Amino acid sequence: MKIFVDSADEREILRWFREGIVDGVTTNPTIMLKDGVSDIESGAKRLSALVGDRPVSIEVTSNDPEEMLAQARAFASWAHNIIVKIPVVNEFGESSLRVVNELTREDIAINATAILSFNQAMLAAKAGATYVSIFYGRIADEGGDPTLVVRNTRQWMDAWNSSAQIIVGSVRTVLDIQNAALSGAHIITVPPQFFPRMIDHKYSRDTVRQFNRDAEKALQEVPIRIAAGK
Ligand code: E4P
Repeated sequence: MKIFVDSADEREILRWFREGIVDGVTTNPTIMLKDGVSDIESGAKRLSALVGDRPVSIEVTSNDPEEMLAQARAFASWAHNIIVKIPVVNEFGESSLRVVNELTREDIAINATAILSFNQAMLAAKAGATYVSIFYGRIADEGGDPTLVVRNTRQWMDAWNSSAQIIVGSVRTVLDIQNAALSGAHIITVPPQFFPRMIDHKYSRDTVRQFNRDAEKALQEVPIRIAAGK
């Protein structure tokens, strides 16, 4: 399973890349705004250069299919690792699947986003999306069971040899990450503030503290000898 970082904050992205746990980056217009990126083009180019060959998702910002196509082609020309995020429907509920399909035929990799149901995920995969972004927290906000949506989508993809991959986004708690990982997500995109909470544990700290105290006592009696030149 891969982990992406859901952020446009270069310092945070680099920090977690250096830990060796992050395989890509996702953004959306809200994240860009929050992280102070108002020029999408220069921001997207900087993020793509920062992460080398790893994928960086950048989202189109229009309700109009022709404008989505034009933006997507421009985004894809900025860097080889840009994945274009297309919302599965626009804000009026009109399908974006034709846009997904046309761009896929042009070899532009698509992350179909704002997915809140199994049916949306299935249709986006059929239209050719490389990634389908299931919004875990937003499904739960509405009283739905996001674990079931992820599990059913994964089961369907495996049964029909779909090449699409599930990205679980809209993570709200550490438990969401754990549940998504165990219900078949190919990728989870994690807001960076969750990584310290995933890694740290009070009892791990206590354990290491105990070892360090005892080591100090032992080292007072017999220091560790490090051979010269080694
Ligand atoms: C990721 O691809 C999504 O854009 C993001 O996780 C949405 O999260 P939210 O529901 O917290 O806005």
